[in-house]
Amino acid sequence: MHDGFDITARIAGIGSYLPERILTNADLERMVETSDEWITTRTGIKERHIVAEDEAMVDLVIRAGKAAMDDAGVDPADIDLFLLATATVEQPVPASSSIAQPALGVVNAACLDVSAACSGFVYALNVARQFIATGEARNVLLVGGETLTRFTDWTDRTTCVLFGDGAGAVVLQPAPAGEGILRCAWRTDGTYKDLIAMPGGGSRIPPANPRNIEERLGFIKMRGNEVFKVAVRAMAEISQDVLEQAGVTVDDLALFIPHQANLRIITAVGSRLGIPTEKVYTNVQRVGNTSAASIPLAMADAVAEGRLQRGDLVLLTAFGGGFTWASALIRY
Ligand code: ACO
Repeated sequence: MHDGFDITARIAGIGSYLPERILTNADLERMVETSDEWITTRTGIKERHIVAEDEAMVDLVIRAGKAAMDDAGVDPADIDLFLLATATVEQPVPASSSIAQPALGVVNAACLDVSAACSGFVYALNVARQFIATGEARNVLLVGGETLTRFTDWTDRTTCVLFGDGAGAVVLQPAPAGEGILRCAWRTDGTYKDLIAMPGGGSRIPPANPRNIEERLGFIKMRGNEVFKVAVRAMAEISQDVLEQAGVTVDDLALFIPHQANLRIITAVGSRLGIPTEKVYTNVQRVGNTSAASIPLAMADAVAEGRLQRGDLVLLTAFGGGFTWASALIRY
């Protein structure tokens, strides 16, 4: 069932944090020409959490990371690798993981940001697993943190109804093969790089370039309809690959936790894989699309609700900008 490593990584602790402020579909009706009915039928989203004026991505990461370390009963000083999956860095330099390090107390950890948009958490899970399998790391803190609403164009109704903020975190520790992470797969196709993008603010169109402001290039742009079709196909394929490689079927799964982008994508992927609805976890209705935070937030909610229990087989599958997509099969 496992992938040849003698040692793999298990989830020793989990935590999450959502900012207090809630933005409902009714609030959005007052901001752009949209309706609760349109948003609900097209996306399933009813509300999302939004960072406060004086909050940034790293503040959410610190709360979620501390909760995960508490849950694992691990001393922050024993964390030797801290991975932060995000597409909404606090600032270009230094890395957001460096900025979060002192408050998290992970003083002995190497700190690394992982950039793979909405697939960032599952990508980083695969990275963490390799370092644990080789014995290079024994306690990994992995946080998916995101404040996409800071990069949302609130005049663009095609994107502003979709996103929310939050952070989810896990602590990973060594486990014998057959427990913890059993299989991972990841893929990238950069030919789709323009379909989900924040085109401005980097080295091609630096922040001070007037085009950045005039053409609103620092905000997230998405060709939703085209993304939708590829996302469903890619998520179903990679999930199937991981299940086949592990020699398990959907009947063996206790829960499927897909990236919470859109209820219609989730439903379509679940039905392509033949997974009964009751085994497909969703919280997109309450949190919207939180990108790299989406899967760990959903996992933390599933654990809190008793839907995911120790020993359960759970499949995680993500899809996002790049395009990137990834899947992981875990004995929780
Ligand atoms: N309110 C009302 N009408 C709207 C809104 C809105 N918020 N947004 C768009 N419309 C209109 C459009 O203007 C269009 O009108 P027209 O026919 O007069 O031109 C009509 O609704 C249909 O627009 P579409 O874009 O075709 O709508 P679609 O059914 O594709 O739904 C959506 C749009 C929800 C964005 C969908 O395409 C989607 O979910 N795509 C996937 C996005 C995604 O999940 N990405 C995941 C990975 S990326 C990431 O997570 C960062």
